[in-house]
Amino acid sequence: MTALLEAQEVTRRFGGLTAVNAVSFSVDEGDAVGLIGANGAGKTTLFNCLTGFDKPTSGEVRLRGRSLLKMARHKVVRAGVARTFQIVKPFPDLPVLANVMVPLIVGRASGDLRAQALAVLDRVGLAARAAAPSSQLSEGDLKRLEMARALATRPSLLLLDEPFAGLSQSEIGVLSDTIRQLRADGTTLIVVEHKIGSLLRLVDRVVAMDQGAVIADGEPESVMRDPAVVTAYLGGVPDAQG
Ligand SMILES: Nc1ncnc2c1ncn2[C@@H]1O[C@H](COP(=O)(O)OP(=O)(O)O)[C@@H](O)[C@H]1O
Ligand SMILES: [Mg+2]
Repeated sequence: MTALLEAQEVTRRFGGLTAVNAVSFSVDEGDAVGLIGANGAGKTTLFNCLTGFDKPTSGEVRLRGRSLLKMARHKVVRAGVARTFQIVKPFPDLPVLANVMVPLIVGRASGDLRAQALAVLDRVGLAARAAAPSSQLSEGDLKRLEMARALATRPSLLLLDEPFAGLSQSEIGVLSDTIRQLRADGTTLIVVEHKIGSLLRLVDRVVAMDQGAVIADGEPESVMRDPAVVTAYLGGVPDAQG
């Protein structure tokens, strides 16, 4: 079987700094993978390389066997890959509804875009805020909008970059339910998150990075106990109970 996503020796250098160093791993249809590592480990840079937002210095990324690096960004979206950003970037002056209509258009939705945008907002519990300018949203609602914008493209592979950062425990619970529902619907997930406890309730595999390289990949329990992972976190995994 061809992997849904395959990274092969992906390296990204910024001048003298190797942010991502020869990373190889593959994700099958239906997998839910947690990607962990200290700040600066290279997680966001890897996400950028896996989603066409950045080009690796060397290496290959394949989506269903086809090189993703040769695809234009909108083609990557249409091939079913969506991601959220660690730093949320909505169009601040546009109402929440319009912020969701833009990715619907990029994803080539047809028919009643307003109704579809509202339906997506409803899935993340944000329909009541549809008319508000996104600049007026709370941190929790911004995270929901970010998720809605990703869902609007109907991804088969969704990459979430620190979805729980800045959220309260109850907001994390609500968002976790949404993520679990996506999984149940067959969406493949890769999730970067420092709140390890909450992350481990969502994934069945963990990939750990340190200084740009993958240092462990496998069952969550064994990865979290791996001496290299414990050392990379300087003896203390942040938010182990979070
Ligand atoms: N555009 C960039 N230019 C230069 N250095 C960068 C750039 N993006 C990331 N880096 C550096 O690459 C390393 C990995 O960063 P990042 O991928 O954001 O890590 P993480 O998401 O794991 O915290 C860091 O040292 C960071 O400063
Ligand atoms: Mg990051």
